[in-house]
Amino acid sequence: MPSHDFDYDLVVRGATLAGPAEVFEADLGVRDGMIAAVGRNLRRGAEEIDARGMIVTPGGLDPHCHIEEPSEDGGVQEESFSSGSAAALAGGTTSFICFVPQWKGHPIAATAAGYEARARASRADYSFHQIITDPTPDVLEREVPALVARGIRSLKVFLTYDPLRLTDGQFLEVLATARRLGAFVTVHCENYDAIGWRIRALLEAGLTDPLQHAWARPPVVEREATHRAIALAELVDQPIQVFHVSCDEAAEEIARARARGVKVWGETCPQYLTLSTDDLAKPDFEGAKVVCSPALRAPGESERIWARIREGTLDVVSSDHCGFSFATAKRDPGSSGYGQGGAKARPDGMPAFNAIPNGVPGIETRLPVLFSEGVSTGRIDLPTFVRLTSTNAARLFGLAGRKGTLAPGADADLVLWNPDAERALTNSDLHHAIDYTPWEGMRLKGLPTMTIRRGEIAVRDGQVLAEPGSGRFLARGPYALATPSGRVPDGFDAAARR
Ligand code: URP
Ligand code: ZN
Ligand code: ZN
Repeated sequence: MPSHDFDYDLVVRGATLAGPAEVFEADLGVRDGMIAAVGRNLRRGAEEIDARGMIVTPGGLDPHCHIEEPSEDGGVQEESFSSGSAAALAGGTTSFICFVPQWKGHPIAATAAGYEARARASRADYSFHQIITDPTPDVLEREVPALVARGIRSLKVFLTYDPLRLTDGQFLEVLATARRLGAFVTVHCENYDAIGWRIRALLEAGLTDPLQHAWARPPVVEREATHRAIALAELVDQPIQVFHVSCDEAAEEIARARARGVKVWGETCPQYLTLSTDDLAKPDFEGAKVVCSPALRAPGESERIWARIREGTLDVVSSDHCGFSFATAKRDPGSSGYGQGGAKARPDGMPAFNAIPNGVPGIETRLPVLFSEGVSTGRIDLPTFVRLTSTNAARLFGLAGRKGTLAPGADADLVLWNPDAERALTNSDLHHAIDYTPWEGMRLKGLPTMTIRRGEIAVRDGQVLAEPGSGRFLARGPYALATPSGRVPDGFDAAARR
């Protein structure tokens, strides 16, 4: 509470404030962890930060990251909630949404309680998407409604990966359940059978390098599954977001659907904006560092993704942080459920491309890489940066007004940026548990110098001050964006029949 002598707990003075719609100079006053006032010449705060020359944005909301996920064989991802959230805060991300796994043949309850207990170690605020791999009647009619009632209001489904993928019939059942409950659905869009067919042919031809990961899943398999996911969501009339769009072909499907009024949104990630098959083709198995799905695309393709951002088709840039260390897990075909086509070893003992665990680490680098490659180069303006990194995710996942804005009443999650600071990115400066970054050596222009989470200084000059366990679970209630459009074929609402 502010003392009698002060109007605010904290005043950030004289900054350039960058919100989702505008950029202006003002002071920002914080009281009880929330933004209390924005204006010129605010009265005194118990603590004052001189932010002249700095840009202040809302704290990042990363709506797609994989942290400390357990696997069915008893293993667990090496990125812990403590290390992952330290990395998030150091990179300007004050809240994130990660994934509760479900294993086929098991109820959600088999993983949920343990995972939620682990997440309490987070230093950043957090929420969950529930992965659905086995949509039995009990899961859909009893477990998912109970999750939604507890504020876990978004589901992820996979249309590929051996242990995770749903058939179209199962996907329809998940969409219909979400529609009845007012939940949101996110989708990994790639064609499972097409990828399997290409993998078998590549392996038979003796082509096993990391680069062949991209050959196994060219843009057309992403375009097909994106089109199909949107068509099935349209049939059910259920809002969805297509995760990690890597190519213009998939973005085009989203743009076409939006033009006819379908409630579909698209996400992309820094890896699709800055890396390419040139990185996958690096020798000595180095390409494994950037094996992720969908795959990286040809050099130059990323400019088409930037264009899709500017036109508004892709409105979120998440990290899809999914770390596997290069010295260990990337070489161990058994270390992840994110693979397809069985474990095959190459003559050098490394896994063939299809058995390399899929994913890149990026929770800490998401904002700095996007700021540098987007804002500092002039590809996007500051309000677009803010919408991509926090505001739009807050709208999509039921956190609007609370996260992703500098308006009074919102949580005081703030990032102070020095737009002129420059540094070469290197893994030893990062706080994650992974032994590499795909952006090693990249020169960054524009760096976060301070992260404030709910009014407290969480990171100052690279030093993480927020303690494990200081993050809060973000329960999410009903919200308008997740409601159906009301348009079903022939006026017959099949989802309502259960
Ligand atoms: O390669 C990726 N994207 N790994 C994480 C799992 C997923 O598909 O989101
Ligand atoms: Zn995915
Ligand atoms: Zn992911």
